Amino acid sequence: MPALVLLGAQWGDEGKGKATDLLGGSVDYVVRYQGGNNAGHTVVVGDQKYALHLLPSGILSPGCVPVIGNGVVVDPAVLLSELSGLAERGVDTSKLLISGNAHLITPYHTTMDKVTERFLGKRKIGTTGRGIGPTYADKINRVGIRVQDLFDESILTQKVEAALDQKNQILAKLYNRRAIAVEQVVEELLGYTDALRGYVCDTTLLLNDALDEGKVVLFEGGQGTLLDVDHGTYPFVTSSNPTAGGACTGAGVGPTRINRVIGILKAYTTRVGAGPFPTELFDEDGDKLRTIGGERGVTTGRDRRCGWFDAVIARYATRVNGLTDFFLTKLDVLTGWERIPVCVAYEIDGRRVEELPYSQTDFHHAKPVYEMLPGWSEDISGAKEFSDLPKNAQAYVKALEEMSGAPISAIGVGPGRDETIQINSFL
Ligand code: IMP
Repeated sequence: MPALVLLGAQWGDEGKGKATDLLGGSVDYVVRYQGGNNAGHTVVVGDQKYALHLLPSGILSPGCVPVIGNGVVVDPAVLLSELSGLAERGVDTSKLLISGNAHLITPYHTTMDKVTERFLGKRKIGTTGRGIGPTYADKINRVGIRVQDLFDESILTQKVEAALDQKNQILAKLYNRRAIAVEQVVEELLGYTDALRGYVCDTTLLLNDALDEGKVVLFEGGQGTLLDVDHGTYPFVTSSNPTAGGACTGAGVGPTRINRVIGILKAYTTRVGAGPFPTELFDEDGDKLRTIGGERGVTTGRDRRCGWFDAVIARYATRVNGLTDFFLTKLDVLTGWERIPVCVAYEIDGRRVEELPYSQTDFHHAKPVYEMLPGWSEDISGAKEFSDLPKNAQAYVKALEEMSGAPISAIGVGPGRDETIQINSFL
């Protein structure tokens, strides 16, 4: 089982860092295939807590090679500061590999992200402000700057000129901002060249060779299924493809090479930024989930919107990703509720709907249809086997599994590396 994809089955922040890290020991390569430093993984190792934004979580597992694939957008300043922060804490970062085809987030992308959001006013997406959308827009528009451009000053200068040509007009005439000087951007980017050179290689060739040799490769998605630019709640999405297909395009491996697709699923639901969220809670239950679950963004520090588990979304994630397994996280957060509502379907204009509606109008009108499941009050953080869980917690997991359409192969019962119940092996 050498190639696995691990991705968020909801709106991101499902606890992927923990899942990837858990597998890290048995994995040879951990590859990020999309997104950038809009992501946020918290990984707890022993008494140490690490917040990673751009680097694959495999960087914390000795023996594992972390890879930033071509589908990722890289802010070089953030990358270097994340690397030096880890090195200061004694983490070996020398194995990192970066695709020369990954696109660079430059200061003008971050500026564009912020001014366009401001310009949207009430209709804003609530982006992380990290320049993600504008960088992907330039990539698709064929005016992006790639990591490999850092190694050819003449090409870099031409490309920055081409990119800023239009952007400066927009910045000055539409947004009333100062134009950005080409020389200034080129100089800043060239300042990263020496520090990055040693990490850059043809990651597509390397990963395909690794798979040929039977090595275990884990493709780690950022964000989540419902934030996918094609399959998510557009336009309230990120600008890349966190869904399973994105692993192929974003790392340069064919779909026939992927053996397993694991969806990370929180035992309840959260979302940051704007956009529809049928099971969102505005009462004290929502506050309680937020407090107990520590639902505050790793990247932005924003409070996450919280709600009950939504099985319609989980089924959709199974479908669009071809999920083979789920990793259910944060089950411990639900300890202490007498009854736990689970959304099993939606009511849309008087009709019961079992599958995620393709129409945004319908989705905006969707009201959750809840089934009440009995809760539990016992501390479950020490559970090592499924049978260690209280009967009602077992029933909750089984009910979710049945509704969601793929086996739950692991359960997180606390933030630590060891606080996991493994039911089926992922390898
Ligand atoms: P962007 O990715 O910064 O363009 O933001 C687009 C949308 O995706 C916003 O609603 C963000 O809050 C959301 N988003 C981006 N990255 C993450 C993440 O890692 N977790 C959860 N939401 C995210």
